Amino acid sequence: MSYKKFFPYFKNSDITYLDNGATTQKLQSVIDAELEYYTHYCANTHRSNFGDANKATIYYEESRKYLQEFINARNSSEIIFTKGVTESINFIASSFAKDCKTVIISSLEHHSNIVPWHMQGRSLGDGLEVVGYKDNFAFDYEEFESILKENRKSFVSVTHISNAFGTINDIKKICELAHKYDSYVMIDGAQSLAHKKIDVQDIDCDFFAVSGHKTFAPTGVGAIYIKQKLLKRVEPYQTGGATIKMVTYNESVLLDSPYKFEAGTQNIAGVIGFAKALEFINDIGYEEIELREYKLYEYLHNELKKIPDVVFYNNTKDSISNKSFNIEALIHDDIGILLDKQKIAIRVGHHCAMPIMDKLEIKGTIRVSLAFYNDFDDIDKFIIALKRAIKMLKD
Ligand SMILES: Cc1ncc(COP(=O)(O)O)c(C=O)c1O
Repeated sequence: MSYKKFFPYFKNSDITYLDNGATTQKLQSVIDAELEYYTHYCANTHRSNFGDANKATIYYEESRKYLQEFINARNSSEIIFTKGVTESINFIASSFAKDCKTVIISSLEHHSNIVPWHMQGRSLGDGLEVVGYKDNFAFDYEEFESILKENRKSFVSVTHISNAFGTINDIKKICELAHKYDSYVMIDGAQSLAHKKIDVQDIDCDFFAVSGHKTFAPTGVGAIYIKQKLLKRVEPYQTGGATIKMVTYNESVLLDSPYKFEAGTQNIAGVIGFAKALEFINDIGYEEIELREYKLYEYLHNELKKIPDVVFYNNTKDSISNKSFNIEALIHDDIGILLDKQKIAIRVGHHCAMPIMDKLEIKGTIRVSLAFYNDFDDIDKFIIALKRAIKMLKD
């Protein structure tokens, strides 16, 4: 079964799209839902009381409920819509986590989960600790525990799946260990919602950040899950219209969650579209998505292995979707340019993960990132184009 027919991009383009880690293509049902909002009931939510405004509010809140159930949150008040994972992390970093003495991250974080901590004046060993890794980029749980032991009541912020290498962290285990030492955990789910079932109660995380555009939905929409028992302790990091119960010249009384956290007019169409993308994933099921992607990932790895001088940084164990490599003695940027000329869309560079590139003593990699709509044909086309690029650069 080809899923590409549900994505208009593939009808309109002859590009082999393998840059899903950067953003995914958008479903027709998502685009239709946005168009429907803008052309038939465009109105603001939670304010006016006429028909279309009420309809927009109902659809917006239904989307919140959908996301709540989709990730198995207890209550829809635990779901706060944001612009995406970057905003979700910045929100929690600058409110709940800012006063934690120590923040602990992994070696494989995206800049979105590094820069906000630096902006608070933290640096390595001074308010910020980085957990190392073992073979195949496996998170070093022993080192993590010893950092936690020395730094109780820390704030742990780690990615679920590495955008650069596809490594999957055992986030349930990370939460269990962190809680043992009275610490809190935020999971960066930017690279996971499109690939793996998320159950926030089972994971037992305190915060979980998701992104719409990495999940077949529009850009500019995402969310942060906040565990119910922490909702009252999280301060809003911006305030304004729609967040308040009452305002006088003297004081403002805020509404309860989620409204006190969603200041100003939201990305209403984006939120409605996001739920449509989740509906589609629900219809296919994660079992099918994971199976398809796993087969593609293995095939990609095995085909790459046949190319002389390929340098891998990890194998396929406990990894999914994002595959990074280099070709000995060739520059990744040159490969990227030659692949683009052959209509292959991939990403070359540091993938917003410069510290891990530094650690590996490389400037960047060639990254192929898969989604469930990719197929073996895409990989074959990519491999042919890659071989051609290598030949041109070497001859
Ligand atoms: C692991 C990871 N975290 C955070 C982000 C930022 O997400 P967003 O684009 O939703 O702000 C990305 C985007 O590439 C990512 O891969």
